[in-house]
Amino acid sequence: MNSPARFPTDFVWGASTAAYQVEGATTEDGRGPSVWDTFCAVPGNVLDGDNGDQAADHYHRYNDDLDLIADLGLGSYRFSIAWPRIQPTGSGKANQKGLDFYRRLVDGLVERGIQPMATLFHWDLPQALQDRGGWENRDTAERFAEYAEICFDALEIRDWLTINEPKTVVDCGYREGQHAPGFKDDARAFVACHHLLLAHGLASRVLHERHAGRRIGPALNLHPTYPADDTPEALEAARHQDGLENRLYLDPIFKGSYPEDTLRWISERGPMADHILDGDLAVINEPIDMLGVQYYTPIFVDAKGERVFLHERTQAEWLEVYPEGFHDILMRVQRDYPGVPMIITENGLPTEDVPGSDGRVRDERRITFLRDHLAAMHRAMEEGARVEGYHVWSLLDNFEWAQGYSQRFGIVYVDYSTQKRTPKDSALWYRDVVKSGELR
Ligand code: FCB
Repeated sequence: MNSPARFPTDFVWGASTAAYQVEGATTEDGRGPSVWDTFCAVPGNVLDGDNGDQAADHYHRYNDDLDLIADLGLGSYRFSIAWPRIQPTGSGKANQKGLDFYRRLVDGLVERGIQPMATLFHWDLPQALQDRGGWENRDTAERFAEYAEICFDALEIRDWLTINEPKTVVDCGYREGQHAPGFKDDARAFVACHHLLLAHGLASRVLHERHAGRRIGPALNLHPTYPADDTPEALEAARHQDGLENRLYLDPIFKGSYPEDTLRWISERGPMADHILDGDLAVINEPIDMLGVQYYTPIFVDAKGERVFLHERTQAEWLEVYPEGFHDILMRVQRDYPGVPMIITENGLPTEDVPGSDGRVRDERRITFLRDHLAAMHRAMEEGARVEGYHVWSLLDNFEWAQGYSQRFGIVYVDYSTQKRTPKDSALWYRDVVKSGELR
């Protein structure tokens, strides 16, 4: 038997959620509507007509949820701040009640010895800003920096994440249309892409100017891309895909330039380049203090550039189980984009959990998935990848965007009719890993 993988004693273990997916209370305490409220209201957009109105009712149950996090022995909780709670119409004076909620949340974490990690934008753009063009409008990036400043000044949090998965907003929200705002338009998508990155840079600058000692970075979902066969065409297709999945975001942030091949491809499809004004890339290149890495799936492409699946899949049809990809992407970032620590901000899978007659939720498949992925991450760390911490997606079952409540990513089961929480077997397993710092 191999000896157990031991993690460094200061390794940070945590769990993640996002506001719209867990909070509910979408009309309470002055919260304004977000693009996701609007999107969910259109029949056909979300499976079973689900929406975030109740979600996991975390807005009211956060204290119990904090106890749960403490019971699991976690050292970090990553949550997101709902912009429409702080600025109901996306600009202007802060809504005190919205800020108070996150103050109570942060206080509750600190009291329990848990580090808060806040994401400023996890997709719930105030609808009022969408009405003025959303991320296609450069002004939204400026508004984002203003909103970020309010949050930085009001909340005692060391670690901040700017934009969660800009690529998902670009791809799912603007190219494929299955996420808010629901467009299918490449030309508009990449204009939005540039402004999302600009927003990231502007907010990072504000933090550095106003709060020395705090840290900020983006949360990027990185997808290692591989050729599905050994033809030169597949190799080229994999490189092109890597541009769209990874370099389009990593290059401007780390190097201050867009990847030439990718920008050329984008420019054949629309006017993104016209929106890159003098100085923008320097803003986007504002040094970051840490990189949030989210890993779910590899992408294999064939000679035609089509995605092919070579491994087992999950209830989320896009998620191909390939722990090796986690190792590979961490090594790649370490090699090509060194200099800052990585923090894993999401990793997980949905399983079709049903409580047994004894109430227990036996999610063996999640345990296997997490064990294999933690082992791959550990191997990368042994080989030099600078990984500081890991957050499982997700603490709770929650509103999985266009899939509504049909996909359960939590390590804690939520019965949506009673809002009762039950730690799944994977949560108990994770608790033991966290406690021992070892993977057996
Ligand atoms: C990521 C999102 C997160 C969650 C997981 C499954 O893309 O950041 O909100 O939906 O996927």
